[in-house]
Amino acid sequence: TFLEASNNGDGLFIFEEIEEPHIKRSDFPSGFLFGAATSAYQIEGAYLEDGKSLTNWDVFCHSAGCGENGENGDIADDHYHMFMGDIELMHSLGLQAYRFSISWARILPRGRFGEVNSAGIMFYDKIIDNLILKGIEPFVTIHHGDFPQELEDIYGSWLNPEMQEEFMHLAEICFKSFGDRVKYWITINEPKLGSYFAYELGIIPPSRCSEPFGNCLDGNSDPKQGGSVGLTVNSYMYEPLTDSELDHKAAKRAFAFHGGWALDPTIFGDYPEEVKEYIGSELPSFSLDEKSFMKNSTDFIGINHYSSIYAKDCTKSDCSPTENRAIEGFLGTVGERDGVLIGEPMGLERSYVVPSGMEKIVNLIKIRYHNKPMFITENGYSSPDVQEQRVNELTNDVKRVEYHTKYLASLAKSIRGGADVRGYFTWSLIDCYEWLQGYNVRFGLYYVDRQTLTRIPKLSARWYKNFLANKTTDL
Ligand code: NOJ
Repeated sequence: TFLEASNNGDGLFIFEEIEEPHIKRSDFPSGFLFGAATSAYQIEGAYLEDGKSLTNWDVFCHSAGCGENGENGDIADDHYHMFMGDIELMHSLGLQAYRFSISWARILPRGRFGEVNSAGIMFYDKIIDNLILKGIEPFVTIHHGDFPQELEDIYGSWLNPEMQEEFMHLAEICFKSFGDRVKYWITINEPKLGSYFAYELGIIPPSRCSEPFGNCLDGNSDPKQGGSVGLTVNSYMYEPLTDSELDHKAAKRAFAFHGGWALDPTIFGDYPEEVKEYIGSELPSFSLDEKSFMKNSTDFIGINHYSSIYAKDCTKSDCSPTENRAIEGFLGTVGERDGVLIGEPMGLERSYVVPSGMEKIVNLIKIRYHNKPMFITENGYSSPDVQEQRVNELTNDVKRVEYHTKYLASLAKSIRGGADVRGYFTWSLIDCYEWLQGYNVRFGLYYVDRQTLTRIPKLSARWYKNFLANKTTDL
């Protein structure tokens, strides 16, 4: 058996037997980077300290109340004050890389309307220096959801092309300030999901339900001081609901409307054909200059992959009115197959544990983008918010261990098949604020006590440490 009962002083772990995972660190190439990921709003807190301005998320959560319990990220995990301890946790796990994001409002509280905030630069300097001291490679996401509210008030944020200039300014300051030490940059986290939620569904700030909007380009990657720049997309693996050709096409289209919508322009210089075919007239068109500027502008592809989902055609097949909303924007619908779920449900809505999806999505992206280097920039398990799971989160998160081992085994298969994947980040290092659910949904390798903010290693933290040390037993 893989796990046994033990009490090691960090807390009582009640272990269950789980399937032997058959996956070891040494199943991955030696230069492969293993890490964990976070983002600024979700962990930093200190929402008005040292010159930081209010962000879109601060304002949204203060007025509307966020999460299921009206929570917000004012304090979050207080990483702003506890970052040294958090880097120590990473070091003790044996992480080789850490992915975190820059709070735009800490560095440029007023965007281009104001000065660079040196306290903000110093904060990230300290993080980066201490990571490097511990031999941990920093992966920096330049924009992960939060930006100064002033840019919303003045421009209407991403609906206005001026926001691209703001973003370029931020990116240049980041490259200039940190580029001597940071060699991996992610321009924007999940641009499709962010824009869909923020500007179409209106469920995250700025909460608009707008007409079709423009695209934001990948950042200017100069002067990157020898670093690599990529962007991160969120992608389910879309499985056809039935074996019909139409559903197969819907599944393909689903990828094009999600990952492809953001990736194709930065690699091929234009939107995916499948997208143009259906909503071509609504898309902003790119000039020849823009196309050649964008083409091959990304050095790697970041993939946030958690789950798989069914896709069903709605262009020629009957869909109910709700389904017909074309909820995913790909003229298909997603969901359960005759009540049969695609996998075991996780804590987030429409998220299921489907390990084989990892190999499939990596292979799909490998083929579509001619094996461009890839990083799995997020992969993680959120437990459903039920009593039993809540207790297990603290003492015995066996499901998370199973999830990671199985997804890693699936990833290793794609690498053996030739996919150029260079790293893997668990989401998340510590339990943190989740955009739509608040603190109820936990993804961390470390449990964060909401009263004391103490970080307590879960079983998964101990598993990851052993995995990285190339031990698969004796947790
Ligand atoms: C993707 C996002 O990048 C991250 O911010 C979020 O917490 C996780 N997925 C889980 O939903």
